[in-house]
Amino acid sequence: MDLTPKRASESATEMVQVVLPNDANPLGYILGGTVMHLIDIAGAIACHRHTRTLLVTAAVDDLQFLHSIKVGDLIILKSRVTCVFTTSLEVRVDVFSEEILTGRRQLTSTAFLTFVAIDRDGGKVRVAPLLTETDEERLVCEEARRRRELRLSRKSQVASHKT
Ligand SMILES: CC(C)(COP(=O)(O)OP(=O)(O)OC[C@H]1O[C@@H](n2cnc3c(N)ncnc32)[C@H](O)[C@@H]1OP(=O)(O)O)[C@@H](O)C(=O)NCCC(=O)NCCS
Repeated sequence: MDLTPKRASESATEMVQVVLPNDANPLGYILGGTVMHLIDIAGAIACHRHTRTLLVTAAVDDLQFLHSIKVGDLIILKSRVTCVFTTSLEVRVDVFSEEILTGRRQLTSTAFLTFVAIDRDGGKVRVAPLLTETDEERLVCEEARRRRELRLSRKSQVASHKT
């Protein structure tokens, strides 16, 4: 396993696709579930590029849809690893709509996802550290650590509700 530290810029990913009628509800707007699917894919790609391992999605933080995206618009997803822990890592995915004729771009969602690196037998594996070189990158990672604490505490609450 290559544990050489990597920069977030090395795995940052941008996905662009046109919203087609098959992706939309009867009002002609992209389905929330389709956006969630694309967020999962965009987040996973950045994390695969960082880890070069298999991954599972462990958590998706709460998601807001600020604007609708209509058929014929572009949907753009930008993903970037924010912080790496031991076997898990957090990625941020920003979603934008872009009107083809005007180029008007709007932020429609921001999501934070956590992926866990696994081997072919499902065992967890260590992840290469993230190189943080600027104050801003260190702050982004610090904020991710705080979200992680909240997430793990929410997980314990959910797990304690098991029947
Ligand atoms: C995610 C999963 C691998 C965690 O397994 P687990 O045995 O509970 O994991 P552990 O408690 O040993 O934690 C492993 C790592 O995952 C992190 N983690 C586990 N659950 C998490 C959660 N809900 N949110 C954030 N991080 C989580 C832990 O913090 C730990 O990270 P670290 O090694 O970087 O410190 C397991 O619950 C699973 O397989 N879930 C199903 C995943 C899935 O099917 N996803 C959808 C399809 S891909």
